[in-house]
Amino acid sequence: MKDYFCAEISESQLNKTITTCGWVATRRDHGGVIFIDLRDHTGILQIVCNPDNKKIFSIAERIRSEYVIQITGKVTSRKKGAVNKDLSTGTIEVVVDKLEILNHSKNPPFKVNDDETNEDQRLQYRYMDLRNFNMQKNLRFRSNLIKLIRNFFYDRGFIDIETPILTKTTPEGARDYLVPSRIHTEKFFALPQSPQLFKQILMIGGFDKYFQIAKCFRDEDLRADRQPEFTQLDVEMSFIEQQNIMRLCEELFSIIFKDLLNIKTKLEFDILEYNDAMNEYGCDKPDLRNPLKLIDIKKILKNIEFKVFSDHVNNKNSRITALKIPGGCTLTRKSIDDYTDSIKKFGAKGLAYIKCENINDIEKGIISPIKKYISKDILQDIIKITDAQSSDLIFFSADKACIVNESMSYLIQRIGSDLRLLKDEWSFTWIVNYPLFKLDAQTKKYTSMHHPFTSPQNIEDLDSEQISEIKSKAYDLVLNGNEIGGGSIRIHNKDVQNKIFKLLGLNDKEIQNKFDFLLNALDYGCPPHGGIAFGIDRIVMLLLGLPSIRDTMAFPKTQSSSCLLTQAPSHVDKEQLTELSIKTLNKK
Ligand code: AMO
Ligand code: AMP
Repeated sequence: MKDYFCAEISESQLNKTITTCGWVATRRDHGGVIFIDLRDHTGILQIVCNPDNKKIFSIAERIRSEYVIQITGKVTSRKKGAVNKDLSTGTIEVVVDKLEILNHSKNPPFKVNDDETNEDQRLQYRYMDLRNFNMQKNLRFRSNLIKLIRNFFYDRGFIDIETPILTKTTPEGARDYLVPSRIHTEKFFALPQSPQLFKQILMIGGFDKYFQIAKCFRDEDLRADRQPEFTQLDVEMSFIEQQNIMRLCEELFSIIFKDLLNIKTKLEFDILEYNDAMNEYGCDKPDLRNPLKLIDIKKILKNIEFKVFSDHVNNKNSRITALKIPGGCTLTRKSIDDYTDSIKKFGAKGLAYIKCENINDIEKGIISPIKKYISKDILQDIIKITDAQSSDLIFFSADKACIVNESMSYLIQRIGSDLRLLKDEWSFTWIVNYPLFKLDAQTKKYTSMHHPFTSPQNIEDLDSEQISEIKSKAYDLVLNGNEIGGGSIRIHNKDVQNKIFKLLGLNDKEIQNKFDFLLNALDYGCPPHGGIAFGIDRIVMLLLGLPSIRDTMAFPKTQSSSCLLTQAPSHVDKEQLTELSIKTLNKK
């Protein structure tokens, strides 16, 4: 048995004989002496095999990269010139007097700690990739985070309850993963998009403080921060208000930052209304470390003739915004063209700009291809409303509100990062006062902004004509421009819940098929309740500054939702399909 992990061995064990195990990172034959870098999750330890011990030397000659070995030997100081400052064990080495090969390895497909390895290879040979120090660090951090979260909730009287994986659709806005039932021919389970309805039913069942580290499944287009199978911290409480949940989450994050990141300064949590977030940043997950903000300028363009703007001045569905870039006069024509091209993917038709080289000289100090279309007075108003200073640049976007919002929120992020405008801090922002519904641009139908179980702020509003104006009791938490969690106070009244389903366009039959169990449960003494869920994978990604959510999971899926390690999804035997009464359509 081993005494120590590799990097636990230090000068304090000098001259002692120790035993350790690990994987061979490299083997170097230095004309007579063989050096082995032995690796485990703690680090690297240099092993020396001298030729005078013939038996050991002949074993060492056979050793290759990624062999698993056990050694016993004496800890000795390295010679001065041989000290490696990059290793925590760099001042010592172990001179071997016992060496055993515990297992062989084929020639590895890539070097374990080579950060240039392509991701497909990393995912295919995930067991090799997991030996990488970064993956070791990420998954150990994740484990510590989950341990802290569990302790946090246990200490506060919460009960951890598992909810089913084989279940009925739980709508969170994505497609369901379906599982056919063998026993109930032509019927399907859905994997949960979240434990939402079960946690609400647990409230009806009297478990007034519930939490779970829950697996969720969503068949949706993947991005760097999304996976089809991910993990939520799911929380629900009865007899509480929005404030109670927000304070509880703030306490949780303060402890996470203190205990796991060693950040002791008090965390600040900003609160922003949904409408203000959309107006100022064009999105509901703004990064408040970034000073760039949108300013609406429709008012001051009333009489403008320039078509790019005049087309939108009187259209209530349009926005015209200015975005001031401090010091932006240094932007080259090429980078302005790049920014203009980059927002075309959102449907933007252009990106007008003015360079304010000298705000006191409108004639010569304001430079812009569109200057000829804008009167002096309007230019002055623009400078005033944006508070532009000499050397600033102002971008303009005029279009349907959704196009302006999407393109300008992207631009704010991109320029903020290109020009390094972001403050070096952690920025938590609660977004509150969401609308209850949003209009789907394609289907022209209302859908829930969050999920259909979210309570409106005023029940009477449900009778109003202006459905899009109804506000909900939902709240999201944003960290550095990423949505890490969302929740709400729920509907606990059957009639209200029914009304919401109807407003969403469900007919009685659909309501009965999908949600009869919920409506029935609401009939038997449902307490007022609310909760929240956080994306654990996303939080790990942000706290460790990782480029992809895949680096927070041991066995993630690729961008196209497959597992390169197991080759899932895969074809199944015909018999299995027959048993399930399933016939596939041959798309070829
Ligand atoms: P929501 O859909 O906002 O809310 O999900 C909560 C959080 O889960 C994370 N998340 C994801 N992480 C990785 N990959 C995905 N595909 C993915 N989708 C979501 C995000 C998100 O903020 N039932 C509600 C919560 C509630 O109301 O209590 C829900 O699931 O960080
Ligand atoms: P054009 O008249 O199309 O050559 O456009 C003149 C300037 O206005 C160019 O700098 C375009 O990039 C910009 N522009 C065009 N359409 C828009 C728009 N919808 N919003 C903002 N700027 C635009």
